[in-house]
Amino acid sequence: MRKNLKHSVAIITGASSGIGRETAFLFARKGVKIALASRREDKLQEVAQEINGLGSEALILPIDVSDQDQVDSMVERVLERFGQVDILVNNAGFGQFASIEETSADDMREIFGVNFMGAFYSIKGVLPYMRKQGSGHIINISSVAGKRSFPFMGAYCATKFAMNAISEALRIELTGTNIHVSLVYPVTTKTGFFDVLKNKTGKRFEPPKMFTQSAQQVAQAIVKCAENPKTEVLPFPLAWFLIVINAIAPGVLDFILRKYYKSMMK
Ligand SMILES: NC(=O)c1ccc[n+]([C@@H]2O[C@H](COP(=O)([O-])OP(=O)(O)OC[C@H]3O[C@@H](n4cnc5c(N)ncnc54)[C@H](OP(=O)(O)O)[C@@H]3O)[C@@H](O)[C@H]2O)c1
Repeated sequence: MRKNLKHSVAIITGASSGIGRETAFLFARKGVKIALASRREDKLQEVAQEINGLGSEALILPIDVSDQDQVDSMVERVLERFGQVDILVNNAGFGQFASIEETSADDMREIFGVNFMGAFYSIKGVLPYMRKQGSGHIINISSVAGKRSFPFMGAYCATKFAMNAISEALRIELTGTNIHVSLVYPVTTKTGFFDVLKNKTGKRFEPPKMFTQSAQQVAQAIVKCAENPKTEVLPFPLAWFLIVINAIAPGVLDFILRKYYKSMMK
């Protein structure tokens, strides 16, 4: 049965742009009160203004998710303001474009700090309250790159594989608690992601055009999942094809990827 989200409270990390921003607007239209978390306060202000215009409430939380103290204070401030937390969307993240050889240990620590530890801290922060209130929904924004690793994106893919791993464990551990855990796997999405991508290759990265969707499409899938919790969500259905081929014949995908990334290889 579809849940009525009106008067629920959602935390969205990475709400200043792209998928997080669009998800905030769609939640606002459903009457959800939203805590908007990311580093750029001015961008969060703009999102909050639009949310107020849609008749909902927004709380701005300018934080860096890679800092556990800041994430803990995010959860405290949400509880102070709204008294509950029903939905957590772990969405903050960024990409790196570099071969494994070009990836330094600091690069790896940085991307894990945001994409993985940021989500882990947020989960740790909200779970005690969700357990107390006897309900909740954690929606982790992974990627198709968390199902199959892509060349020159090994570090990024590793963060998404790691996110999948804790989500799969957690959803079983929370059996019987009325707290759901969902994984969302977008394909290439038109957002600011590629503008801030850390590119160490010296070459231009062209994401495959065939597997491209809009931030609104992903946001719709996230909100639908909040209304009707699912274990896994693929906002771009054709992506199943890629996942199945990889599961039964990974060498076929290797062959395709070698061809696609040929100009990148030295
Ligand atoms: N775009 C794609 O092709 C694609 C595909 C699959 C999955 N995804 C995933 O979707 C999620 C959203 O990405 P997007 O495409 O919407 O990209 P985006 O437009 O660049 O948005 C990323 C968001 O993350 C926030 N963020 C980055 N570092 C942060 C930090 N240290 N602390 C707090 N917030 C931080 C950014 O805000 P501030 O800069 O204000 O901090 C921004 O709001 C990411 O997890 C990404 O991996 C994207």
